[in-house]
Amino acid sequence: MDSKTILKKLDLIDDLPTLPFIAMEVNKMLQDYDTSINKLTQTIEKDQAIVPRILKLVNSAFFGFQSKISSISHAVVLLGFNTVRNAVVSISIIDAFSGDKKALEGFDITRFWSHSIAVAVISRHLTEKIRLQPPDDSFTGGLLHDIGKIVLFQHFQDLFKKVWISAKENNLSFYDAEKKEIPITHARIGGYLAKKWQLPESLIDVIRYHHALSKRANDFNLLIVVHVADIIANSFMSDSKSKLDFSLIYPDALHIMKPQLETVSDWFPEVSTKIESACQFFNINDGN
Ligand SMILES: [Fe+2]
Ligand SMILES: [Fe+2]
Repeated sequence: MDSKTILKKLDLIDDLPTLPFIAMEVNKMLQDYDTSINKLTQTIEKDQAIVPRILKLVNSAFFGFQSKISSISHAVVLLGFNTVRNAVVSISIIDAFSGDKKALEGFDITRFWSHSIAVAVISRHLTEKIRLQPPDDSFTGGLLHDIGKIVLFQHFQDLFKKVWISAKENNLSFYDAEKKEIPITHARIGGYLAKKWQLPESLIDVIRYHHALSKRANDFNLLIVVHVADIIANSFMSDSKSKLDFSLIYPDALHIMKPQLETVSDWFPEVSTKIESACQFFNINDGN
């Protein structure tokens, strides 16, 4: 099976993860310049279950902002359409993909989400430090960067297994094992899916290029942030005293983020508390 066949197969899968209706609607509305604050607010408020969670998220320390946001319209006015979309997409994607909590060989959904949440929180922190705007874009990018892994696991189990075994036997990263064993990567699958979900180009590119950075990316700085956050999460989440392997980091990223990279062990404990509260918010606890 080549990569085109795999993507074609993806198109034909009926139960391919779809974004919940509300997230699709919000994405669509944001592509339309005529969308008004009222229209967006009304659409979100139709889903009464999500409203308090959006408010809690935008007011949280790990995603949020200093001001106290008390309603969806207040959030839209104060934070803007894009931030509200990021909140809706973040909440609904975790809801849609974390239902099945059982761990199967090689894939543990709880671990998957705790890694993704860590990358989200670290990305947001880095964005603030290097004064990139807006920080919630990097949170959502971090949260979604590995989404293709879930699809690979759920719909191409034979390929997933091959990769997982090879990674273990040859002591490779999942991505390197993918390149060695199968004609596609989780980054490509995730990017493809993100496009189907009509996410903004900058997020699609973060998902697609987070391992193989491309200058063609819609927002190269955002991509760099998530790339670095992924590497930091991989070494510091399992061992808070570990040393960063700078050779894994793309040279441009190393250059832009040198001060943050050299001081990770100083700032990581504070970020790690935020990661914990983010995991609690999204109901992801892996006992680590
Ligand atoms: Fe990845
Ligand atoms: Fe990752």
